[in-house]
Amino acid sequence: MNFLETARSRYSVRSYRNQKVEPEKLEKILSAAHAAPTAANFQPVRLIVVQEDKGLSKIGKAANLYGAPLAIIVCSDHAKAWTRPFDNKKTVDIDASILTDHMMMEATELGLGSVWICYFRPDVIRKEFQLPDTLEPVNILAIGYADGKPADPERHTAQRIPFNELVHYETL
Ligand SMILES: Cc1cc2nc3c(=O)[nH]c(=O)nc-3n(C[C@H](O)[C@H](O)[C@H](O)COP(=O)(O)O)c2cc1C
Repeated sequence: MNFLETARSRYSVRSYRNQKVEPEKLEKILSAAHAAPTAANFQPVRLIVVQEDKGLSKIGKAANLYGAPLAIIVCSDHAKAWTRPFDNKKTVDIDASILTDHMMMEATELGLGSVWICYFRPDVIRKEFQLPDTLEPVNILAIGYADGKPADPERHTAQRIPFNELVHYETL
């Protein structure tokens, strides 16, 4: 599959088979995160890979993982983030999200399902994983083998805003 085919075949998986993700596949997913760019290459991101029952139930207190056997908590380090000098905007969320997207797309490429999760209790994640104050849990990526019928790769015409609403050339 080329990239566009992979991107179109990806969908949010909310039901998983009871099957672990192979260590070689996990390594490739983490390597995709490692290759991701960050602002000024500051890399203010830390990943917590959770596969053991104890850790998964800790996340379960904060989020619905939909039964995924693997979750990666993507944290941003506010102390290390690049800040734009003109308006002091920190790129922490952007940096965390590009790593998350790289991992999500690599998981798709490897035949795995995933769902990006922001609907979680950050205070609970902080407490359960004893995060230092500067680390913010930004995204949780749940990964595993999808159960059920895959979404139609051609669904985007109906499920996304029209192309001409999204894309504007030269001027809005
Ligand atoms: C930033 C972000 C946060 C999201 N948070 C959640 C979430 O907390 N729970 C969930 O089930 N899906 C979540 N999703 C998945 C979206 O709902 C989903 O990507 C969107 O509805 C499009 O569907 P598709 O991924 O199947 O194409 C999130 C996606 C993104 C990009």
